[in-house]
Amino acid sequence: MTKNFINFDDLSHKELQGIIDRAITLKKEHKSGKINDSLNNKTLAMIFDKSSTRTRVSFEAGMTQLGGQSLFLSEKDIQLGRGEPITDSAIVISSMVDAVMLRLSSHEDIVEFSKHSSKPVINALSDESHPCQILADLMTYQEEKGSIQGKKIAWVGDGCNVCQTYMQAASIFDFELSIATPVGYEPSDLFIQKYQKNVTLFNNPMDACREADIVVTDVWTSMGQESEKKQRETAFSGFQVNQLMMNHAKNDAVFMHCLPAYRGVEVSSEVIDGSQSVVWSEAENRLHVQKSLLLYLIEA
Ligand code: CP
Ligand code: NVA
Repeated sequence: MTKNFINFDDLSHKELQGIIDRAITLKKEHKSGKINDSLNNKTLAMIFDKSSTRTRVSFEAGMTQLGGQSLFLSEKDIQLGRGEPITDSAIVISSMVDAVMLRLSSHEDIVEFSKHSSKPVINALSDESHPCQILADLMTYQEEKGSIQGKKIAWVGDGCNVCQTYMQAASIFDFELSIATPVGYEPSDLFIQKYQKNVTLFNNPMDACREADIVVTDVWTSMGQESEKKQRETAFSGFQVNQLMMNHAKNDAVFMHCLPAYRGVEVSSEVIDGSQSVVWSEAENRLHVQKSLLLYLIEA
């Protein structure tokens, strides 16, 4: 049966851990110059209806490094953007390629695509979640500090797609997740109910950061929410991750951000450019972990 990676929990702990472990090996091999062309003659279609730097570059470079090709398909350039049904697009595109990656505003559209796709489907960010990002975050923590099991992660800011995927990861990898948001910006009720065992909600970010092993944040205004920017900046004042906030976490805590980041808004430059920040490995690891994911899904 075709495997997809649409929700973080589409794969088991064993599968996810295997993908991360292999990514660490692939990274070392790539840096030592070893060629791995296991995806020779394979094609990845990449459908985007939102902007991207990291996701596009990492998937494209990853396919090239593995000996395959990728097709960048902006929604506005393909018939999907002119109203061709998702179902028809899925049948046709998947008949010609070996995997399909989608960054679509609507999570339901990615799910709908997968129902009619004959090849693996990867969610590269939706309004609901961003599973590839959390794979890279977990890989980064493992490289820096080891196992994440039993650790405390503080999420500060918006209860957005990236935050919701952390909730899924907390349940699978068994870590404690403290989420601090302004009132009204919590994750969805569905996620809160489903993942409550590992999650505690706060409105005071300093409380959430107390003794944390990782402090993580994201933009206050996600793609598609631009009209709310002013209102959000007011609501999120006091939620900037700065050194004072980091001082509530453990001394050896790391700072993460999926990027793009806005210095002086959700994070101070002293933190993102400081010694506790691992954001550059976190970004680079998108490449390695997605190569591992592609190998897992396409070779399955
Ligand atoms: N973190 C992330 O997904 O970045 P892009 O939007 O640049 O792809
Ligand atoms: N929450 C952000 C993540 C960007 C990678 C967004 O959806 O725009």
